[in-house]
Amino acid sequence: MTKFRQMKKEGKSISMVTVYDAAFARMAEAAKIDMLLVGDSAANVMLGMDRTADISMEAMCLFTHAVKRGAPNSYIISDMPFGSDSTPENAVCNAKKFLEAGASAVKIEGLPLDSLKAIREEGIDLIGHLGLLPQTAKSFKQAGASEEEAEKIFEQAKILDSLKPCAIVLEHIPSTLGKKITLAINTPTIGIGAGKETDGQVLVMHDILCMHPFKLPPFAKSFANFWEAGVNAFCDYKKWVSEKK
Ligand code: KIV
Repeated sequence: MTKFRQMKKEGKSISMVTVYDAAFARMAEAAKIDMLLVGDSAANVMLGMDRTADISMEAMCLFTHAVKRGAPNSYIISDMPFGSDSTPENAVCNAKKFLEAGASAVKIEGLPLDSLKAIREEGIDLIGHLGLLPQTAKSFKQAGASEEEAEKIFEQAKILDSLKPCAIVLEHIPSTLGKKITLAINTPTIGIGAGKETDGQVLVMHDILCMHPFKLPPFAKSFANFWEAGVNAFCDYKKWVSEKK
């Protein structure tokens, strides 16, 4: 049984954060975060792109390498970028690139079943991702709000569970659905906007640390204000330089 399945069995909550570079990966490892996710949210928060679907495999491998250097002892998950799992052959080939870059597992959005099966048949650790799927979503509103859509996500979770992934991320779904899935499957569920009853939680590092001046998603929470601290530090530095100190 994997460490994370054991944690679910024992009712221990699993922490996951996104990280993209060595400096913050080092910090997350020092904090003993259970899982580090090199998310394709790197497209937004690191590269300033509008859509996660625009990030490349090359960029994701670069971020994965950096995270591995900063957190050599952590469980690192790399997000398969949009299109990288389009066929089973593609999926396995790209997943292996991430393993070479230092990842312990790969995360795939949605249910491209043949690609997911091919990855598991290669013995590669897999993290699923259901609910709101940013790579293909037309809107960022809650997924599974209608009974029909909730049922569909529940069925998808059961199918994914049968492939024995290490965990399934559940993004922006009703908390009742997060709880129902968590109770129905053996795979640990990691929620982001999926309520308190999932087996763990994940947040984007830039939201946890409040690293930007933008409005947080409704389900995110900040535990520090790096934006304010950073702007103040730059201002102090500028003053120090201008006063020729
Ligand atoms: O890319 C990402 O940051 C993610 C999280 C929102 C789970 O997939």
